[in-house]
Amino acid sequence: MSNYTDHILDVVVLGAGGAGLRAALGCSEQGLKTACVSKVYPTRSHTVAAQGGIGAALGNMGEDSWQWHMFDTVKGSDWLGDQDSIEYLCSNAVDSIVELEHYGMPFSRTDNGKIYQRPFGGHMTNNGKGELANRACAAADRTGHALLHTLYQQSLKNDVQFFNEYYAIDLLKDNNDEICGLLALSIEDGTMHRFIAKMTILATGGYGRIFQSSTSAHICTGDGAGIALRAGLPLSDMEFIQFHPTGIYGVGVLISEAARGEGGVLKNNEGTRFMLEYAPNAKDLAARDVISRFISKEISAGRGCGPNKDYINLHLEHLDPDMLAKRLPGISESVKAFCGRDISKEPIPVIPTVHYCMGGIPTNFKAEVLKPNSENSEEVCPGLMAIGEAACASVHGANRLGTNALAELVVFGRGAAIQAGQVIDKSESNKMPSDHSTQEIINRLHSVKNNTGDISVGELREKMQKTVQKRFGVYRESEALSLGNQELSDLYQDLKHVKIVDKSDVFNTDLIEALELHNLMEVAGSVGISAEQRTESRGAHAREDYPERDDENWLKHTLAWKQNDTFEISHRPVRMTTLSNQISVIQPQVRIY
Ligand code: FUM
Repeated sequence: MSNYTDHILDVVVLGAGGAGLRAALGCSEQGLKTACVSKVYPTRSHTVAAQGGIGAALGNMGEDSWQWHMFDTVKGSDWLGDQDSIEYLCSNAVDSIVELEHYGMPFSRTDNGKIYQRPFGGHMTNNGKGELANRACAAADRTGHALLHTLYQQSLKNDVQFFNEYYAIDLLKDNNDEICGLLALSIEDGTMHRFIAKMTILATGGYGRIFQSSTSAHICTGDGAGIALRAGLPLSDMEFIQFHPTGIYGVGVLISEAARGEGGVLKNNEGTRFMLEYAPNAKDLAARDVISRFISKEISAGRGCGPNKDYINLHLEHLDPDMLAKRLPGISESVKAFCGRDISKEPIPVIPTVHYCMGGIPTNFKAEVLKPNSENSEEVCPGLMAIGEAACASVHGANRLGTNALAELVVFGRGAAIQAGQVIDKSESNKMPSDHSTQEIINRLHSVKNNTGDISVGELREKMQKTVQKRFGVYRESEALSLGNQELSDLYQDLKHVKIVDKSDVFNTDLIEALELHNLMEVAGSVGISAEQRTESRGAHAREDYPERDDENWLKHTLAWKQNDTFEISHRPVRMTTLSNQISVIQPQVRIY
């Protein structure tokens, strides 16, 4: 047996983004011995890139209620969201924001000192019938940065043990096949560590990097999803990939929806504000899936801007330059850096860009992972939770509203900690990983490292990303999906021929990238298979060959899991129940903005 170091804990949290830190902090505050394991230094987690705001019906700048927030979120999800989870999100968001404020998060302020809130896509008043709601609690356009630093500081203050730059390989199991922690590699020196815990919380973020162009950081490689699949767990709703309407053309860098929340407008090459026609009420602040589809339509109809008519212009030049400097300093800098333009003088060239993954590890609203092979069942997998973008709670269903990702991180991070506090018995001793489970993980690590082949990690990753980008875009249809799946399955075989040149133990990024590629390839496969089987259009899954939403046959979640080398698909009903009598179930309606 190889050498490793054991760490005996109550809780191990994998990932140090907003969800992971909030969970770790909450566990540690309750006196649970908590470690947070992260492949990057915590403040480099992708949450740091979140810009426009965090959704909560504080009502600081106009009338609002969590029930309206819930209505918008259910509608935004195109009715695929689980309504108990959505109620949990919206009804707990307000307290979670107040808590962040008390932790010291530097929100922007109104003139009378309250947290500043701006409008955001799909957030309306009066159950979709009223004006846009001012619901996005913002720290200028650097909300994620403010949030992440606040939570990291609080976690340090509350004695969370950090294992920074440790890469998790897989989940550990005891002799009864129950999860009891994870095995990770120290990137700094190649040593192996078993984090043995009564609760393992996966908070590994999304998998936007299965695409070639994405607003996601390069670290968003679906590590938690890959780990879950290898542990025999399913992934849910992987077909739903969000395209943010405004990524900088040719670069992929995000231009926050806050730009439109502050008054920015989209125009085609005729100078027409096309969203006025397509979404007469919400206009440029309709939900993201809707705007992304209409931008694509404008471009396909030859009304795109630029020499190749392949982007749309986002105009901010009509807005007050002082306001732009105060409320949107981050995007002013990004546009200067990546387009050489001044947003107060020239429009920004934008195009829909992959931004968020609605699918992930299925959980209930308490963040507990649903048990494998338990279709139609709410049984949970003991000792395992998932939160944030890694999870599918499912609060976003087929399409996430802007600002609900940050809300999800803190609400479900906090909720996971509360639930962990309730189920963990501190006086009990830990279940220990079996030798078999430990050795299996180490063997996998060695086999990746010592693989002899003729393809570099970068080469195979690029091929996979190009395929996913080409075949699984904003609009999808049967032939492209089927071709995409065939190509992915061929590329999957090439994983066996990946060569790791660097054989050293110290900062072996060649090895880490290979391990990440294994996760990316698993995830890409699950996205492709899930997309091909859903023969309807719903939220971010727009099928040209099945343009309508089909509630009769498809008001259900997809589950995809790995059996040997292929994916099996099954389904789970959408939870159309609420947690309290403060709101009733929101029945499916036609989705118009
Ligand atoms: O547009 C944005 O600022 C992104 C926010 C989000 O994805 O929630």
